[in-house]
Amino acid sequence: MSSVFGKLFTLSSWGESHGKAIGAVVDGCPAGLEISEEYIQQFLDRRKPGQSAITTQRKESDLVKILSGVFEGKTTGTPISMIVENADQHSADYEQIKDWWRPGHADEAYDSKYGFRDYRGGGRSSARETIARVAGGSIARKFLKEKCGTEFTATINIDNNSIENAKKNGDSIGGIVSLTIKNPPKNLGEPVFDRTEALLAMAMLSIPATRGFEIGKGFEAANMLGSEHNKFADGTYGGITSGEDILCRIAFKPTPSISKTQMAKNKNGAFGEISIKGRHDPCVAVRAPVIVESMAALVLMDLWLQL
Ligand SMILES: Cc1cc2nc3c(=O)[nH]c(=O)nc-3n(C[C@H](O)[C@H](O)[C@H](O)COP(=O)(O)O)c2cc1C
Repeated sequence: MSSVFGKLFTLSSWGESHGKAIGAVVDGCPAGLEISEEYIQQFLDRRKPGQSAITTQRKESDLVKILSGVFEGKTTGTPISMIVENADQHSADYEQIKDWWRPGHADEAYDSKYGFRDYRGGGRSSARETIARVAGGSIARKFLKEKCGTEFTATINIDNNSIENAKKNGDSIGGIVSLTIKNPPKNLGEPVFDRTEALLAMAMLSIPATRGFEIGKGFEAANMLGSEHNKFADGTYGGITSGEDILCRIAFKPTPSISKTQMAKNKNGAFGEISIKGRHDPCVAVRAPVIVESMAALVLMDLWLQL
C-alpha cells in the first residue's frame, strides 16, 4: 500500500494511532520558506481532540517536532521530516473489539485484504493519520500564501444541540464542510486527467469518512439553466484554474464507532451485539475543516510546481 501523496510536492504519511508516533515527510518544498514548529502547531491545534464536549475526549497535546529540512528557520529544499508523539492511548479500550468488526469501520475490509492489522485505535484507518496531512499542508499553504496570496478557509455549519443529542443517545451524526480557496494561482491543472477539480475530489475523498464532494454549484448545477450557470464564477474551466475563488463542499458520514448497542460480525463469522467503548468523536466533521484546507493546499502546491 502506498502512503505518498503528490507528484513534485510529495507528502509521505506514517504512523499508527496507538504506535509510538505519527509523522510526515514533505519532499519537494522549495528552499528559503520560513517554517517553525510554532507555525505548524497552530494548525495541529485546530485538529487535535479533546477541545470541546463535541469532540473525542482523547487528550493529545499533538506537539510537532521538525527533524530535518529546516535550518536557521528556513527550508533548505531537502526532505522536511516532522514527528508527533502519541501520548494518550487507551489501547485496552480496543481489547474488547479485537476480534469484532465495527460496523461501518475499516476493520473487516483490512482483515479481508491484508489478513493482519494493528487493531488498537484503528491503526492506519484512524483519523490520527490526518496529523500528517495537516503538518504537510501547513507548509504548502504558507508557500502559496506568500507567493500567490492564496488562502484556504473551511467551515462547518452544524448545530451543537444535534451533536449533543446524538452523543447522549450513544449515537453519532454526519456533517458538511464548506471550503473556500481565495486567490488560487491561475493556470493550475491540466485538461484531461489531472484536472484541478479531479485532483481536489481525490484529495478530499481520501480523508476518512468522506462520502461526497461538490465543486462550484455541485449537484445543484444539474438543475440550472445554461444561461444561469454561465453567470457563475466556477473557478476552473477545462480543468484549469481561472484565478477566481474555488468553492467546494465535502460530506462526512456519521462516526462509525458508537456506544449504542448494534449487531456486529466477528472474525469467526459469528454475529452478536456490541457496544463500542472508548472515546470517539460524535461528529467527525467538527475536526475536519483544517484537514480539508490542508488537502486543498497540498493539491494546489503540487500543481503550482508543475506550472
Ligand atoms: C477528524 C476525524 C475524526 C474521526 N474520529 C473517529 C472516531 O472517533 N471514531 C471512529 O470510529 N471513526 C472516526 N473517524 C472515521 C474513521 O476514520 C473512518 O470512518 C474509517 O477510517 C473508515 O473509513 P471510511 O469511513 O472512509 O470508510 C474520524 C474521521 C475523521 C476525519
